[in-house]
Amino acid sequence: MASQAKPDLSSAGTVVGARHVAIIMDGNGRWAKKRLLPRIAGHRAGVEAVRRVSRAARDMGLDCLTLYAFSSENWKRPAAEVADLMGLLRHFIQSDLDEFHANGVRLRIIGNYRALDPSLVDMIEGAMARTAGNTGPVIAIALNYGAQDEMVRATQHLARRVAAGEIAVEDIGVEAISAALDTADLPPLDLLIRTSGEQRLSNFMLWQAAYAELYFTDMLWPDFDADALARALDAFRLRDRRFGGL
Ligand code: FPP
Repeated sequence: MASQAKPDLSSAGTVVGARHVAIIMDGNGRWAKKRLLPRIAGHRAGVEAVRRVSRAARDMGLDCLTLYAFSSENWKRPAAEVADLMGLLRHFIQSDLDEFHANGVRLRIIGNYRALDPSLVDMIEGAMARTAGNTGPVIAIALNYGAQDEMVRATQHLARRVAAGEIAVEDIGVEAISAALDTADLPPLDLLIRTSGEQRLSNFMLWQAAYAELYFTDMLWPDFDADALARALDAFRLRDRRFGGL
């Protein structure tokens, strides 16, 4: 058998809790529309849900919660909405970093965040550096993230290492690719949740979701809360994970 990174099979077929949960936070616009509010009001309510769910994830003992906040395709939205979302993200990092830090949370940003406005890049890198030594759970925010873009960046990185003679082509396997992704130091993804009734992955964590359980709920993201997360984790515990085995 080829030498490849294998998932940790210790949990296969047994009832265990998820360590790493990722969420496609969808439905902010529809939440606002139902209330005859502007879309930004839905995104603001979405930030409140981010706060609630991050605290719940911590309380429930998750090791990592990854949230899809802005995709590499979200630039197609009207400039005003993009600016609103960036403003909310900036404000969120400023206002919530102390609480994260006080609770031992490590804040991580995945995605091509280095392509963002330099002042936001500085803020992100400062926030990550400040919380890097913490020992609690990771809250990872996917920002300017697209799974295909992540894989392209990882592939280019590995190709450059081959060209520089640092590694051989044969060294490129599942393990090397996983290690070149933005999520290299995060635990394997167990459960991927999408809110708002849509049932697609929308270019989110495509590699990492290879053996993740998928959970779709009709709830709109701004309504999502600790109870909703607990229901998703209950459903996860009932899944029979075989990772291709029997
Ligand atoms: C999808 O709803 C949501 C987004 C594209 C952005 C998610 C952003 C937040 C929850 C706020 C900022 C996040 C953080 C971490 C501070 P949609 O606008 O596509 O909703 P719709 O499909 O109902 O129109």
